[in-house]
Amino acid sequence: MSHRKWEPKIVAFVCNWCTYAGADAAGTRRMHYAPNVRMIKLPCTGRIDPHFIVKAFEQGADGVLVSGCHPGDCHYVSGNLYARRRYTVFRELLEFLGVDPRRLQFSWVSAAEGAKWVEVVNEVTAEIKALGPRDVGWAETNGHQPPIVVAPELAQTPQAVVDAGSTTEALRAIARELLEKKEVAVVVGYEEGSLPGVTTPAFITKPEDADRLVWNEHCVNNLSVYLTRKQVTRLGRVGVVAKGCDARSIVGLIQENQARRENVVIIGVQCGGVQMSVRAAKGDRELESVSAARTLIQVDGELAPKCYACDVHTPKIYDHLAKGDAAVTRPLAAADPRFAEIAALERMSPDERWAYWQAQFDQCIRCYACRAVCPLCYCETCIADKSRPQWIPTSATSQGNLSWNIFRAYHLAGRCIGCDECSRVCPADIRLDLINRKLAQSVQEAFGYTAGFDMAAAPPLLTFRMDDQGEFIR
Ligand code: FES
Repeated sequence: MSHRKWEPKIVAFVCNWCTYAGADAAGTRRMHYAPNVRMIKLPCTGRIDPHFIVKAFEQGADGVLVSGCHPGDCHYVSGNLYARRRYTVFRELLEFLGVDPRRLQFSWVSAAEGAKWVEVVNEVTAEIKALGPRDVGWAETNGHQPPIVVAPELAQTPQAVVDAGSTTEALRAIARELLEKKEVAVVVGYEEGSLPGVTTPAFITKPEDADRLVWNEHCVNNLSVYLTRKQVTRLGRVGVVAKGCDARSIVGLIQENQARRENVVIIGVQCGGVQMSVRAAKGDRELESVSAARTLIQVDGELAPKCYACDVHTPKIYDHLAKGDAAVTRPLAAADPRFAEIAALERMSPDERWAYWQAQFDQCIRCYACRAVCPLCYCETCIADKSRPQWIPTSATSQGNLSWNIFRAYHLAGRCIGCDECSRVCPADIRLDLINRKLAQSVQEAFGYTAGFDMAAAPPLLTFRMDDQGEFIR
């Protein structure tokens, strides 16, 4: 039996020009410091992708340190300023998922600051040593039960009252005219599905088929996902039916150059809220978990949670508006009740949160339905499908599931508009909606940015300000 004392393994990602040179200076001066850090040199902190951090933890690191040039000193002018923004969001994500923030640390260390490097390494090592080994890491959790969270109380009880008859007529008239005048090649809207209370996407290419279109409280799908699908775009100019929330994802696609404004005709609908039916009766145990909140909210025939505090009943952007009687006839909640769930999770200890999310992600079967339905997941080759290098283990193990869900969430940070399509289609009922909302909240607090409202705005993680917050950096 080995009696070797445990020592933390810390991976340090450092920029070549400042921190690496600073560490080199410390070595040249024969300064002593903790030997726990494995240093990986990269050109700039702007090149230190958060994916590297995920991989380090996945491969067994007890802690990660990221270090580079002070603001203003970056040898690529602003790499560290972009990086500061990314880390601001990424560390909030990891913390929300239950990684103790002391395990992921940041510093600015210049080439002249060998002494500071020694100090940083010693302090970080001591903190991680005090935390102990990261043995609840990317590993099997043996069916750890999520802790109990009391469901949040709603500010008011909503009533799903949407009479959409004339909205349907308005929609059909707009689609018919657009197709007759050949202003669009296809209208993507909703038609009745084969099951009662279900609508499915409809692709209308002939004016005489416009009467297939419907608008009612079951029109849940975010149809903007088809604006990046070649099967649709190759037909020509696309008319797309958009609720207020969906229109925000169209703004995102235009902002990210995935759709050209002149190639899209937005047919806005006034929406009083859509319904989401519960897929299956929930068991007693689940009622005791965080999911209780959603179960209580998402009673069959009632509004989707995203509609409770909706403030975009009329889309902020449209070319044609199908006006009708889909008026808002219900009181609104003061805020999205899921923020109360997020707050409840944040009140837990990191270990409890970690156990909660591990239990959630353990259910993931890697069907990628969340990716398929997301309008903002449009990469031709998703990182989950890349094999050189293979960023994410492909099998549905705890290790791979956690990494996949972290990557997915991070890629949507500052971009997700909260349409909830991912959590709607998830067969395992994973609370992706909570993660997306938490990140949207973090981005709003840190950068004052809300996704999907301003086509001309730079996406928040693709820009920076000199006065961005960075108190978490040593
Ligand atoms: Fe050091 Fe950019 S070169 S942070």
